[in-house]
Amino acid sequence: MDNKLKIIINHAKLYGFIFKSSEIYNGIKSIYDYGPQGIEMKNNIKKFWWNYMVKYRDNIVGIESSILMNNKVWKASGHINNFNELFIINYIDNKIYIIDKLFYKIINKKIIENKKKIKLIFYYYLKNKKINKLNLFLKKIIKKNNLSKKFKWKNINNINLMFKTKLNSLNNEKFTYLRPETAQGIFVNIKNVKNSNRLKIPFGIAQIGKSFRNEIISKQFIFRTREFEQMEMQFFIYPGQEKKWYKYWLKSRLKWHYYLINKKKYKLKIHKNLSHYCKFATDIEFKIFNKFKELEGIHFRKNYDLKNHNKLSKKNLYFYDNKEKNKYIPYVIETSLGLDRLFYSIFTNSLKIENINNKKRIYLKLPKFISPIKIAIFPIIKNTQIINISKNIFNNLKYNFTTIYDENKSIGKRYKIQDSLGTPYCITIDFITLKNNTVTIRFRDTMKQIRCKINKLIKYFKKKFDISLFFKNNI
Ligand code: GAP
Repeated sequence: MDNKLKIIINHAKLYGFIFKSSEIYNGIKSIYDYGPQGIEMKNNIKKFWWNYMVKYRDNIVGIESSILMNNKVWKASGHINNFNELFIINYIDNKIYIIDKLFYKIINKKIIENKKKIKLIFYYYLKNKKINKLNLFLKKIIKKNNLSKKFKWKNINNINLMFKTKLNSLNNEKFTYLRPETAQGIFVNIKNVKNSNRLKIPFGIAQIGKSFRNEIISKQFIFRTREFEQMEMQFFIYPGQEKKWYKYWLKSRLKWHYYLINKKKYKLKIHKNLSHYCKFATDIEFKIFNKFKELEGIHFRKNYDLKNHNKLSKKNLYFYDNKEKNKYIPYVIETSLGLDRLFYSIFTNSLKIENINNKKRIYLKLPKFISPIKIAIFPIIKNTQIINISKNIFNNLKYNFTTIYDENKSIGKRYKIQDSLGTPYCITIDFITLKNNTVTIRFRDTMKQIRCKINKLIKYFKKKFDISLFFKNNI
């Protein structure tokens, strides 16, 4: 495993962010638990997304749909037939290669000629599911370019990524799937939500929730896991307005991301190997360990899903256009973000290891409003008067900010722990406090300190954590 990744995983475990699931039994592959700090941080990210996408908009509402749904949902959505992964098992190195990753490994080699033509043929076979032809085609390229010493396989395997699960009933045949995306819970509820909330096109429905994919290759910690959370929003529009709304949502989502992490870390990529439901897609990619990786997808799904649900359920999912006097099925622009992936990106980007005067300093430079603990409160020593004041301050601040109180170990060690947890501010109550009612506030990133009157603390921190201007200026 990459050394940098090891550092991230160890830090996440040591400071209570992320643990291997069922670790005492050696874990379960590609599934993780969030610890006390992890869940606080995750909730802060969710709140930031929800406020931006739902709370402060008048044309988007939220829902929470179930993970298990009638299995016909997955027939109509195309996931039963199309949500498959193609891969080979390479006999040379005994590794699994997902087919498009294998293709890029091959095509990026200098010796390959006619790359453009080869790409066209590859995507034609892939899109049209001509798997046997694709297999022969790839083998031909391998042979022609003397790559047989690196790659050798028999067939291309084709496996559905959904987790199938049985439902108890007298009829043993009853089964469904754990949802592989939250979006379908939105599509099947569109009329319920629209009618109960008197919504008019264009409008959006958003939700945050767990999704499950039985991934074949799952590497890189929480980047690709079998159980993960998505934050998705389906924006329903009049057919023909897709260009305008696609542009709008791509721009909006980027503004949101740039407020979290420096925009230099992001890149856009037009998605080539489109999902079965998708007409056009752009990936918002994030740089992790010098490689850009998909973080969020902005998808134009046309009316693929609603049309199919309309047909299979035989329920009327048409909308009526009063102006044009015609009925139509709305088109959809989807924004789909993996919460765990974003968590990983922020965490990785924030972990700083510096050398100051030959001493190693580790701190987690999280965006302040995402930090699991906002303020830590320390009495400088265990003196009754100082402890009493410290506890009073803690009790005053805790209703406004996630705050902790700690009186153990040396002050230096306490600062160190909070730096590693990403706590942006530490308050220390000392002997000067007894004289003039001021405390020190220490800043995580610069380690500088200022003094502040105790009765000004709430006002001071409210200002520091206020991000309302971002919402006002960017929605
Ligand atoms: N509803 C559309 C949809 O699900 P997707 O591109 O398959 O589209 C959207 O997934 C996002 O979900 C991805 O950009 C990624 O952030 C996240 N995601 C997908 N599979 C994941 C996995 N196995 N582990 C963690 N996150 C995943």
